Amino acid sequence: MFMDLLAKRFAIRKYTAQQVSREDLERILQAGEFAPSAGGGQRNMFVGVRNAELVRKLGRWNMAKFDRSNLAGSYVSREQPSTIDDPTITDGFYGAPCVVCLFGQANFKFKEADAYCAAENMVLQATELGISSCIVSRGPETFASIEGRELLRTWGVPDGYECVCFVILGYRDGEPPHRKSRREGRTRIVE
Ligand SMILES: Cc1cc2nc3c(=O)[nH]c(=O)nc-3n(C[C@H](O)[C@H](O)[C@H](O)COP(=O)(O)O)c2cc1C
Repeated sequence: MFMDLLAKRFAIRKYTAQQVSREDLERILQAGEFAPSAGGGQRNMFVGVRNAELVRKLGRWNMAKFDRSNLAGSYVSREQPSTIDDPTITDGFYGAPCVVCLFGQANFKFKEADAYCAAENMVLQATELGISSCIVSRGPETFASIEGRELLRTWGVPDGYECVCFVILGYRDGEPPHRKSRREGRTRIVE
């Protein structure tokens, strides 16, 4: 049942070193390609990185300019602490061995919407494959350095494209977290 798949997905922030297979990563990227996109434009592009050392470097870039001054004070997760919860975390990708970087056209109004639609497809496909995941933000900041922009050139990301967000991928270290109860009163049906 589709609802079972939804209930099985958690944001995971503790990973083993086991790498995701190329075949599984291809499937996850393909799930992103099937996502809806504004105007059917399919303007976004996705780069999957299976090099764990490079993923760690990107994870550090992701946190390099993290501004703690505007945090609201609420806790994200006690079982899987996020970078908001634990100021000692310097790798925004939590040691995951694999990441998908999601790009959009920098001047396109719906680039974020398109990217997060694709990210959701990817995390659900990952769940079906038994792969853990987490959506991570701060795409533009991550590649803001000269080194970052140079890396995107080597990946063949065209000028005018900007990273929006990431899907980190890997195998969970430890027990699954408990499902947060769903806040009530958020839906209506009008007949
Ligand atoms: C738009 C968006 C941005 C997010 N950015 C981050 C992030 O930068 N770092 C992180 O650890 N989790 C991030 N998450 C994951 C959420 O923290 C997570 O989905 C939320 O805590 C609920 O937990 P669940 O996914 O297990 O239901 C993001 C999720 C969304 C939808």
